[in-house]
Amino acid sequence: MPHSLKDVLPVTARLRDDGHLEVGGCDLVALAAEHGTPLYVFDEETFRARARAYRRAYDGAHDRVFYAAKAFTSLTAFRMAVEEGLGVDVCSGGELHAALAAGVPHETLIFHGNNKSDAELEMAVASGVGRIAVDSLDELERLARIAASGGVVQPIVLRATPGVEAHTHEFIQTGQEDTKFGMSIESGAALEAAKRAADLPSLELVGAHAHIGSQIFGPEAFGKLVEIMCEFIADVRSATGVELRELNMGGGLGIAYTKEETPADVATHATFVREAVEREAANHGFAPPSLSVEPGRWIVGNAMMTLYTVGVVKDLPGIRTYVSVDGGMSDNIRPMLYGARYSALLANKANEASDKVVTIAGSHCESGDVLIRDVALPGSTGRGDLLAIPATGAYGYAMASNYNKMPRPPVVLVREGHSEVVVRRETYDDLIRLDRA
Ligand code: LLP
Repeated sequence: MPHSLKDVLPVTARLRDDGHLEVGGCDLVALAAEHGTPLYVFDEETFRARARAYRRAYDGAHDRVFYAAKAFTSLTAFRMAVEEGLGVDVCSGGELHAALAAGVPHETLIFHGNNKSDAELEMAVASGVGRIAVDSLDELERLARIAASGGVVQPIVLRATPGVEAHTHEFIQTGQEDTKFGMSIESGAALEAAKRAADLPSLELVGAHAHIGSQIFGPEAFGKLVEIMCEFIADVRSATGVELRELNMGGGLGIAYTKEETPADVATHATFVREAVEREAANHGFAPPSLSVEPGRWIVGNAMMTLYTVGVVKDLPGIRTYVSVDGGMSDNIRPMLYGARYSALLANKANEASDKVVTIAGSHCESGDVLIRDVALPGSTGRGDLLAIPATGAYGYAMASNYNKMPRPPVVLVREGHSEVVVRRETYDDLIRLDRA
């Protein structure tokens, strides 16, 4: 196992004497034989350690860490997040339903979405979610009516558009002015919403929220965000007399997918944010608000890897070698959607040098179904080998589809040599269960 992939692999990854890769004390070759491929292997220790690291980094009395359900929406992940002291961020009725089904305490939930329906707002209010992140004036009015008719005072945070451009793929950038998310600070829309919220007795305005994007490394954009948000909090206080006591900075911390990337360190990041908030709050003359964050990728991304079986290998002389595997864009759409780069290694030959550059293709009827272009694997790579792609935990299973009627793979949780299926493999019958016969 190349040491250079240390930041990419789960913390329990180990090279065995027989050349097999082991995760969570389980031989991946044996796991694949037992459960088949493709297979998502979910390392409990990595998930928990990362959840704990976040909790430690944000340990103020009223600080909150919400696991962003959208990264990997699973009852098991929710329960582990709760056990590690996290709440859960949900952004649809379906995610809310899953979180409630997992037993996540309702007061530790935050509900997001740029176009929440009345039905979703009613469900959120009736289930007593701790926070609703209000995304528009339209939503504010509807939510106020729904809360009033339920006899509830609903705590809310306002989702602001801070006008900060994070340096990441444009599809996962959300803080800039041209966005469907939130209410603009610059145009005054966010302040208007705050004034209106302060007048609505069925809503309790407790904080401000912003999420500037995903897979962000440097602190610069977050520093800028703190300045803008603290100024907004000061403006809300002058305009309404309400002192917002929570600042929610969203998610977005970057992880390593390849050896070229250095993951963001959550403790350093949190200290940077906290100091910036203290400084800005002092400048504006208010007590520093408590901090909330909503990490998804950073917690679950490196906790999972996908195992595939190598099938056809096509050598196109002078062009490239295609190594086809038994999954593809239906279990990982990120390379096609965002041009995302991944690493790969052979889990059954992790001790062999990677000396041949190949392209890893999926089994779908699409030329674009390429998981990794130009990646080095052992020269002996051939039919039957077990290919591992690490760091597929975030937005992998969550964005999986049944394109070409491919059943979604199972998720197997591993810990200290034990494995259990926490999401079962879909069957061919599952794939036609919604059709009229
Ligand atoms: N909070 C809010 C309000 C969000 O919109 C998101 C992500 C998060 C938290 C969590 O962000 P994270 O810590 O995971 O970066 N499918 C894309 C990522 C979309 C992220 C959408 N919102 C991808 O695969 O890269």
